[in-house]
Amino acid sequence: MSQTTANDIAAIGATINAPAYVKHQKLISWIADIAALTKPDNIVWCDGTQEEYDRLCAQMVASGTMKKLNDAKRPNSYLACSDPTDVARVEDRTFICSEKKEDAGPTNNWMAPAEMRATLNPLFDGCMKGRTMYVVPFSMGPLGSPIAHIGVELSDSPYVAVNMRIMTRMGKAVYDVLGTDGDFVPCVHTVGAPLAAGQQDVAWPCNATKYIVHYPESREIWSFGSGYGGNALLGKKCFALRIASTMGRDQGWLAEHMLILGVESPEGKKHYVAAAFPSACGKTNFAMLIPAIKGWKVTTIGDDIAWIKPGKDGRLYAINPEAGYFGVAPGTNTATNSNCMASLTANTIFTNVALTDDGDVWWEGMTKEAPAHLIDWQGKDWTPAIGKETGRKAAHPNARFTVAATQNPVIDAAWDDPAGVPISAFIFGGRRSTTVPLVTEARNWIEGVYMAATMGSETTAAAAGQQGVVRRDPFAMLPFMGYNMSDYFQHWLDMGKKIDAIGATLPSIYCVNWFRTDENGKFVWPGFGDNMRVLKWMLERIEGKANGVEHVFGVTPSFDDLNWDGLEFTQEQFNTITSIDVTAWEEELVLHTELFEKLAYRLPAELEATRVALKNRLSM
Ligand code: GTP
Ligand code: SPV
Ligand code: MN
Repeated sequence: MSQTTANDIAAIGATINAPAYVKHQKLISWIADIAALTKPDNIVWCDGTQEEYDRLCAQMVASGTMKKLNDAKRPNSYLACSDPTDVARVEDRTFICSEKKEDAGPTNNWMAPAEMRATLNPLFDGCMKGRTMYVVPFSMGPLGSPIAHIGVELSDSPYVAVNMRIMTRMGKAVYDVLGTDGDFVPCVHTVGAPLAAGQQDVAWPCNATKYIVHYPESREIWSFGSGYGGNALLGKKCFALRIASTMGRDQGWLAEHMLILGVESPEGKKHYVAAAFPSACGKTNFAMLIPAIKGWKVTTIGDDIAWIKPGKDGRLYAINPEAGYFGVAPGTNTATNSNCMASLTANTIFTNVALTDDGDVWWEGMTKEAPAHLIDWQGKDWTPAIGKETGRKAAHPNARFTVAATQNPVIDAAWDDPAGVPISAFIFGGRRSTTVPLVTEARNWIEGVYMAATMGSETTAAAAGQQGVVRRDPFAMLPFMGYNMSDYFQHWLDMGKKIDAIGATLPSIYCVNWFRTDENGKFVWPGFGDNMRVLKWMLERIEGKANGVEHVFGVTPSFDDLNWDGLEFTQEQFNTITSIDVTAWEEELVLHTELFEKLAYRLPAELEATRVALKNRLSM
């Protein structure tokens, strides 16, 4: 390969119009290469300013991609409605292209990198014709902090550019951090819908063919065909989870699908906990919960992703690499989460919710009664009668809001502290209408890792495909693992051993389920702010102040061990959500066995031993 000279760089920079403040030669020539491949009509170098954001939003209002909401109702806010075929993550189109298939593991789609490159090259060739390529520089984690990592996303979607400004630290300052030779993760994104000369664009361009591709060894992301959420906002799942998890494996840290919250007792004792629930299973809500018990306070560090590193004192410290929330709208209301509703009063982008006649938004579950008339997420008239007749929802079940974390009224003071916050407990929880009790404490780290590894959950609208089917979702990371799942289990076990070896206290591990239903399919547990009752018990366990009952797979509270102030909840109701049905657990164990058979190659022996011990205890 020939050495690129300064003169060449100047020439390349000129052809792609690099601003003078971009001084990174490798970055400039990569952008030139991608521009040569994708052939956009224009290149816009995003600077992250409010003016730029406003300009791009106005441009999308003019093009029909977004509607501006009524400024008197919801200032500076927009509604985007996607193509009905592009509404969620596409897990079956997501690939981990490691050199060796076994490094992607049996839970990931895999293709050899060379083969994938040969597949993608013709798709990306000319894919931005007739469009503008946005250069979106972003930092995951506080700008310039030693734990942050930088990415640059090249995208032909202005919707992506404005969402990335909310979700990440996006803008010009990133180039100062990058300097002339800083590391960055190259992210290429296209909606895959080039325009011929004079061809009229559609409101939400996308392609029926989709590829969400990761090359873990070279740390690259290539995304084709979708403009929605995790498929397109590449800092989030692609970078901060799939690529970051491989960085964490190599460098001794963890990238997790976890919220992080601070919780302070009436006595002023503060703990931080991190909780992994699968997509659309309650992270955002738990992270912002308004405690049902007086005197307690919950504050938010993050609602979706945690990067966790061991500190010198042996404790695990977590940061939220994101700067905004891309949260589920349906089900959100002032009764169950008024903090969330308060975050959304202005400066918010809504996607796939319904539009009210007075230019505001609505979604299922926002109010008890739906407005008399709406324009639904597909642009059709909607009335409660139409909804009843056709079963059509006004908002898509995976409709979302994008909002800056700073709009959260209960944001934690340390939310962007580069040092992170020390984690006292890990919580894992799935959506299970049966079988799994309200809360269980693992007796040790290995048992906790086992609980997390074998967690099952009913699928939700966050991913394309069938909903409500129970599947194993280890650590709530099934769709987000960047490497072999068994190696990841080992990595968690190794973290435990390391912390133990220096004599530090390991965080406690809990497993929760807010979603058990009664014979009418209704949730028995009130959830939301009442989840504080469970959280309180956990913290008091950590402090050695609460009792629990030991059973076959851990420790659970009895009725009297939880605080019931202000809630009518009977012992009988408690029994329905905490009972451990031996037959159901024998069936559950079959599913654990199936998972472990699938993951047998490189599965840590401790986990298989834990399964056997559990099986033996069950049959006693
Ligand atoms: P992702 O952003 O997809 O990763 O999801 P998330 O885990 O942040 O889920 P979120 O908090 O947005 O909740 C998803 C859905 O579950 C919403 O419709 C909530 O109203 C509902 N939900 C959240 N917490 C609870 C709870 O404690 N009980 C019940 N019954 N529903 C809940
Ligand atoms: C999830 O599906 O877990 C999300 C939404 O947080 S998305 O960003 O689309 O992946
Ligand atoms: Mn998520």
